[in-house]
Amino acid sequence: MKESWKNNGFVDEPIPAGIDIKSEIRRMCEEKNAVILAHYYTAGEIQDVADFVGDSLALAQQAAKTTADVIVMCGVHFMAETNKVLCPDKKVLLPDLNAGCSLADTCKAEDLAKYKKEHPEYKVVAYVNTSAAVKALTDVVVTSSNARQVVDSFPKDEKILFAPDKNLGGYLNAITGRNMLLWNGGCHVHERFSIEKIVELKAQYPDAKVLAHPECKSGVLALADYVGSTAAILKFAQTDTSTTYLVVTESGILHEMQKSMPNKQFIPVPPEIAMGAGCSCNECDYMRMNTMEKLYNCLKYEWPEVSLDETLREDALRPIERMLEISAQMK
Ligand code: 13P
Ligand code: SF4
Repeated sequence: MKESWKNNGFVDEPIPAGIDIKSEIRRMCEEKNAVILAHYYTAGEIQDVADFVGDSLALAQQAAKTTADVIVMCGVHFMAETNKVLCPDKKVLLPDLNAGCSLADTCKAEDLAKYKKEHPEYKVVAYVNTSAAVKALTDVVVTSSNARQVVDSFPKDEKILFAPDKNLGGYLNAITGRNMLLWNGGCHVHERFSIEKIVELKAQYPDAKVLAHPECKSGVLALADYVGSTAAILKFAQTDTSTTYLVVTESGILHEMQKSMPNKQFIPVPPEIAMGAGCSCNECDYMRMNTMEKLYNCLKYEWPEVSLDETLREDALRPIERMLEISAQMK
């Protein structure tokens, strides 16, 4: 491995001239028995070359059952870590090690450990958008797809700390009638959607339904016709009779929306402050670190690889398995 790769966190080799990058990626997947898992927030071309596209829950479930030897996670670091926790014997690759998550960064394991020591009576429920070190300190993990069911699985009088997303936590308190203590974390993409822009767009498209991710602020969620995970938002639009939607989540999801519902109109809601001409600030800059070039090189050199200390992995596995058990009972 070259020193420059290590410094960059990805393989920075140019792609050989004249190759068809998409078919080369697919060829390497066949050759190496590799599977590409992609989140709905990645670029459309990444979603199109992937074996499976899904939300965080579906991606974890898919990793748990794959028979591939190599998993390439086109998403962010905590997703690749979750795959490694679930599949210790597989090689888990992430095309760019810099693909972090601003929300996961708001909860450091040492801060959570300190809090737990001071409040031993609290159970800890953690959003999947956390490091494996944080998951290892929790009782159960949730994703935006199963958070309600997981929280409902606790006795009504249980003292719960929900970390790290205060918006998702506040939304869960509202719909479950709980009073969970909330960690003060948030996602830089979902926190910047503008209430004023939604109101303006609603005036322009009076029949449009507002679809929002629960990581958005409560004022945004109050305006939503439907609140759900990326997969739930997609499913809602697929089964709903309306034809126009204002989409209040990362704009990568529009790729699958337009592909699977070509006769419907999906309008991405812009953030509060437009960050200049051609602003793409309703994109997650971490998710967009996954490019076709990095994916190609990552498969070719089987690097960067995500690995975990075995004791940490075992500790993080317990709350993830608990979540998967509750999810399996959901349908
Ligand atoms: P989903 O659970 O909907 O995949 O969301 C993950 C995420 O990172 C949202 O910002
Ligand atoms: Fe993290 Fe927000 Fe990006 Fe989701 S959109 S991966 S929560 S930074």
